[in-house]
Amino acid sequence: MNLTPLDYFLWGIFPYITLAIVIGGTIWRYKTDQFGWTTRSSQMYESKLLRIASPMFHYGILVVLVGHIVGLVIPKSWTDAVGISEYFYHLNALWLGSVAAVATLVGLFAMIYRRRTSATVFRATTWNDKLMYVALASAIVLGSVATLFNALEIEGEHNYRETVSVWFRSIFYFNPNVEAMANATTSFHIHVIVALLLFCLWPFTRLVHAFTAPLHYIFRPYIVYRSRGKRNHQRGWSPVGTADSVNKDAKRVERQHHHS
Ligand code: HEM
Repeated sequence: MNLTPLDYFLWGIFPYITLAIVIGGTIWRYKTDQFGWTTRSSQMYESKLLRIASPMFHYGILVVLVGHIVGLVIPKSWTDAVGISEYFYHLNALWLGSVAAVATLVGLFAMIYRRRTSATVFRATTWNDKLMYVALASAIVLGSVATLFNALEIEGEHNYRETVSVWFRSIFYFNPNVEAMANATTSFHIHVIVALLLFCLWPFTRLVHAFTAPLHYIFRPYIVYRSRGKRNHQRGWSPVGTADSVNKDAKRVERQHHHS
């Protein structure tokens, strides 16, 4: 296959520009805008629609994320080696991926509808949010289109685990396999370009909240307002952070006791 300069740029250089922007942009945002590191919740303006749409979108996108990790990171040779046939793999990828994609799309469009129809939520929506929504919705719609086209073989027979996935892993070996990705179908080319553009916007939008999702919140014990035993932190603000930060605090107090 003849590779063009555009192929080299898109699949050999652009991914690294994206990585540099994601890492550099995230550090910059953290250093300059820690107080703005938030999802800018609009729950206080409207919660009826949000209560259904938000979990639908978030659980959906989590399954999509896990699917991408399995599909892109685990080589085909490994699943072959443990006896998972191509047919069985794609059957599962397809029904799980479809359920997840539909939940994500319905959730996302309900969230966008809510932004448009609730006056207070609309007023709290910035240009930054609008651009982010366009990129996010495009990536999700185009991923679904690519999956559908692939399943129906509209662009011919194509196995993304021999093209997109091989290229994706090669980026992290710093030896980008431009040819593998150039061999993918057009619908996957477009899905991946839009996904990379979305990643470039990521650090500068409310999407940063995904990097600090308070997952420990689900597993944390109930807040104990008064401890039964010896206090292991200083009087004043009680630590409410993760187990790590509580332990760090306890150690600091212990050291202070030791010195006095
Ligand atoms: C470089 C990054 C990405 C690559 C290489 C990639 C690749 C793929 C591939 C190979 C599929 C087909 C899965 C299948 O048929 O089983 C797919 C589907 C999909 N992608 Fe991506 N993707 C990327 C980023 C994203 C992002 C950032 C989003 C959303 C924010 C996204 C959303 C989707 C959706 C919704 C589907 C269809 C449903 C599904 O299979 O889960 N993708 N993508």
